Amino acid sequence: MKEDRFVVTPWEVSGKVDYNKLIKEFGIQPLSEPLIGRLKKHTKDLHYLIRRNIIFAHRDFDWLLNEYEKGNKFYLYTGRGPSGHTHLGHLTPWIFTKWLQDKFDVKLLFQITDDEKFLFKENLSVEDVKKFAYENILDIIAVGFDPKKTKIFLDTEYSKTLYPQAIRVAKHITFSTTKAVFGFKNESNVGQIFFTSIQAVPAFLESVFQGKNVPCLIPLGVDQDPHFRVARDVLPKLGYYKPAVLHSKLTPGLIGGGKMSASDPSSTIFTTDSPEVVEKKIKNAFTGQQATAELQRKLGGNPDICSVCQYYYYFFEQDDRKVKEIFDAERSGKLLAGEHKEDLAERAIKFIEEHQKKREKARDQIDKFILRD
Ligand code: TYM
Repeated sequence: MKEDRFVVTPWEVSGKVDYNKLIKEFGIQPLSEPLIGRLKKHTKDLHYLIRRNIIFAHRDFDWLLNEYEKGNKFYLYTGRGPSGHTHLGHLTPWIFTKWLQDKFDVKLLFQITDDEKFLFKENLSVEDVKKFAYENILDIIAVGFDPKKTKIFLDTEYSKTLYPQAIRVAKHITFSTTKAVFGFKNESNVGQIFFTSIQAVPAFLESVFQGKNVPCLIPLGVDQDPHFRVARDVLPKLGYYKPAVLHSKLTPGLIGGGKMSASDPSSTIFTTDSPEVVEKKIKNAFTGQQATAELQRKLGGNPDICSVCQYYYYFFEQDDRKVKEIFDAERSGKLLAGEHKEDLAERAIKFIEEHQKKREKARDQIDKFILRD
């Protein structure tokens, strides 16, 4: 692949993503200062993911705020495809979703697409994806969503509700649209071609429940946007609002390049990793520092390509001043790779240990969250 080539689809992210190009390619809007100002009027403060432009783009978020200001409250919808254990990248849109839930005091529908992962992953059985679904639900609950306002469901366990709505969507989607949007071929299995109809349903399900139109806001990683490009075309044909979307950049892998992805475990910190494994992965992280300590002290490094710096930026350090100090130390050559990694490993292990405690507590809370029919 050429240096400047990158791919972002719901099933593949590779290369170094150019987010400005992606905004044009996907036809999404950058999150502008005035719009951020409008958000702040309601939330009082701004989440670090917004301040750092990690939540960087949207569809119709201005419309959603207009409706909210008119007293038309929205609900949130996001999801997870259970193909393995949860990693830190997945947590980013969820942490942001929880912040929105707290600030706006709104309901959240959380879809677990076990059907999707069975259809798209060669070597996963129906039993495997179900097992991962329940593992992932522990992470979702551990993020701290309000049990009174959050409902989680697996597609295969909530199909009596989802399926009649999905076929209404499917009737408006042609095979050629799915080919154009997702790159399917004649050889693709028919479950894959149908699947986007299922992911569209929670974007209007609350309207079905309430028997009136309710605005929907979908926070997600930008790789999931194509599903909602299709859904936004179809939903008005069924009499519903188009959902609004807030897009997150993709947390990069520890070894540089594309996103943190389960298909590259050494580049990825899973919430189930032991402290020893986390430490080992961070020790092997790419820093892009100079070949020797001496040269590093003299010439300094580049925080923009240093995974360790990027991990503070994307995840572990919410204080902007401290991030600046870390970036400055990397740039000036003051911070050598060994120490840099040790500090990050300590921070990451503390986070993982705390998360794992919450994960264990979540085991007896599942029933409070889950919807089945
Ligand atoms: P999945 O399981 O691939 O990812 C779950 C969520 O995490 C985001 N994500 C990331 N965000 C930041 N950095 C990364 N490295 C990273 N990797 C993944 C994804 O964009 C997603 O928001 N089909 C979906 C499940 C789904 C869904 C939805 C997601 C169903 N309905 C509505 C978002 C909104 C999936 O497989 O996500």
